Amino acid sequence: MATILEATDVSVTYQQPGGAAVHAVRDVSLSLEQGEFVGLVGESGCGKSTLGFALTRLLQPPARLTGGRIVFDGVDLASLDGEALREQRRNGIALVLQSGMNALSPVRSVEGHLRDILKAHARDGEDVSRGAVHRRGIELLEKVRLPADVLGRYPHELSGGMRQRVSIALALSLDPKLIVFDEPTTALDVIVQKAVMQTIRELQQENGFTGILISHDLGVVLEATNRVLVMYAGRIAEDQPSSELLRGAHHPYTEALLGCYADPRADDVDLGEIPGSPPDLAQPPSGCAFAPRCSLAEDVCVRVDPDLMPLGAGRAACHVRAGSAGRSDREEPSLV
Ligand SMILES: Nc1ncnc2c1ncn2[C@@H]1O[C@H](COP(=O)(O)OP(=O)(O)OP(=O)(O)O)[C@@H](O)[C@H]1O
Ligand SMILES: [Mg+2]
Repeated sequence: MATILEATDVSVTYQQPGGAAVHAVRDVSLSLEQGEFVGLVGESGCGKSTLGFALTRLLQPPARLTGGRIVFDGVDLASLDGEALREQRRNGIALVLQSGMNALSPVRSVEGHLRDILKAHARDGEDVSRGAVHRRGIELLEKVRLPADVLGRYPHELSGGMRQRVSIALALSLDPKLIVFDEPTTALDVIVQKAVMQTIRELQQENGFTGILISHDLGVVLEATNRVLVMYAGRIAEDQPSSELLRGAHHPYTEALLGCYADPRADDVDLGEIPGSPPDLAQPPSGCAFAPRCSLAEDVCVRVDPDLMPLGAGRAACHVRAGSAGRSDREEPSLV
């Protein structure tokens, strides 16, 4: 499979005027294969959205990409700016946010929204006449399982689930190679949530785009995706195929997220039960950020921030589980 996105040492800082810099994403490296559907999970505030926005170069001040390379479809997005960046992005990347309602203007019909997007991004000679936009609209609504008459409706005439389906249809309108879904179903009730998630999964399989699904709900992510990235305190703690995580986690943090005995596919998995709280990212710890909450932590965990190491079918950043804790100080950075 071809690599569609390769991120290396990506770091993001929020710098509020007069406040301390918050290191929300810290040296994250990851790669996505074409057609993969990857979940990004972790507790609130661990940097999931910030990473999603960074990878698509959609960060807004006070967030700033402070380092790293983001090679998407052969081009380093981190090195682009202005029109060159917009062009590269619109050619291949879309973002679906939590609340479809906020993303839609109340005074534009669904067809009006689609027309705006298609016209703004039309290539030379492309047909963006009323008829062509209308036909494309019907096609897109069909993809997201909505009837054609939704094209003429305004956002307030649609239910939350329908609005979210419209957001997904609009995201698909330019045939993106990569779609980042940031909590796409969190604002919906459970039944609608399941139906919209089902549509996202089917669309991903039918259309073959690469997807990143950001969610608090590890159960939903494990069911929908091929691979899961677990984030903690701005770092990737674990990267495993979903099938491997269904058998059990390798990182103690993932284990805590999964709950000791809970079925991750059950509806009542509670991610709020991990004792303690994530560190203050204005002063990130020098060792493993999870060590103060980890019952397995050893000396080395407090001193050395672990890199992702091969574990199971994937990788995990854990000295203890990777077996490096009991070894000599060979793996520690030199102090001279
Ligand atoms: N505008 C901002 N100014 C300062 N710090 C911010 C800002 N936005 C986010 N942060 C900080 O960056 C860190 C990561 O936030 P982010 O929103 O990426 O987390 P998240 O994992 O998406 O959380 P959630 O699950 O609640 O959406 C948090 O510590 C947060 O407090
Ligand atoms: Mg978020």
